Amino acid sequence: MTAIDPKALRNAFGAFATGVTVITTRQDDGTPRGFTANSFTSVSLDPPLLLVCLAKSAHSATTFATAPHFAVNVLAEDQKAVSGLFASREASKFNQCDWHAGAGDVPLIDGALAQFACARENLVDAGDHLILIGRVVDFATAEGNPLGYFKGRYFSIGLEDGLVKAAAQNRRTRVGAVLACGDAVLMEADSTGRLSLPLAPGPAANIDTLRARLAALGLTAEVEFLYAVFDDRADQGHGIYYHGQVSGTLPAAFHLIPLADLAAAPIAHAAEAQMLHRYAEEYKHGSFGVYQGNETTGTVRRLAGAH
Ligand SMILES: Cc1cc2nc3c(=O)[nH]c(=O)nc-3n(C[C@H](O)[C@H](O)[C@H](O)COP(=O)(O)O)c2cc1C
Repeated sequence: MTAIDPKALRNAFGAFATGVTVITTRQDDGTPRGFTANSFTSVSLDPPLLLVCLAKSAHSATTFATAPHFAVNVLAEDQKAVSGLFASREASKFNQCDWHAGAGDVPLIDGALAQFACARENLVDAGDHLILIGRVVDFATAEGNPLGYFKGRYFSIGLEDGLVKAAAQNRRTRVGAVLACGDAVLMEADSTGRLSLPLAPGPAANIDTLRARLAALGLTAEVEFLYAVFDDRADQGHGIYYHGQVSGTLPAAFHLIPLADLAAAPIAHAAEAQMLHRYAEEYKHGSFGVYQGNETTGTVRRLAGAH
């Protein structure tokens, strides 16, 4: 039997795209407790059962293992910050979000797409996790798009579709990619040495033609996530940029520019320079959002919808 590398296994588990939930309960003295979980699974309709896996190492493990009730809150696409909050070890998570008490006095997170209040049915010991099985005693649902999680990053179906469709209406849309190789990004130099991100060939530029061009160049590139959609006023067009990874031999005119050197690099387009500045900042913190706006004043949408 081959030895299982836990890190590689975690990455492989991450290939299963999920939603994101916050699991909540109260400790004995009534203090609300909660943690972010994507291991939620519906189990049975009759009786109504669900489960979630909780790491034994979590601060709240003992509380959840003994509490008579808990709730599952399925997060909406504008609740990335809520996910981050409950994945942290902050002491006062519930002071920083809106919530109310539901059946069994469980804390329910406002704005969630679905909330299930449960009585603890069973607790199964499973390796370094506990499987918490709950019997649904009450539930509610709301309209909206879910917050998604895939390979360690958030995604949002609704927001990305809308942004890409809106921007793609514009004939002067530039479709490109921020392709990382460690702490460097791939850039293409023109005859004067000015640098640009790799772009899809026009006029019908889209993610497929972008991928085809990268493959034709002999690059091994995985274009994974929508990274930025913006109005480029200098260019009177739109920019749609994806994020991904690149490896392999670099074709002529392509360079890997270390993030630390970007500020001084001769980047041809102001919009790309601005976006790469944000990329370098996000790389430091390991979190990526979808950017929407114009080339200088947009906001990184924490997948913040219309509310
Ligand atoms: C998207 C996402 C999904 C997560 N899923 C789980 C999970 O299913 N089970 C778990 O125990 N921890 C999971 N975590 C980690 C916990 O949220 C994190 O360890 C948290 O600090 C636990 O809170 P506590 O230590 O205050 O109990 C997840 C984190 C994120 C960002």
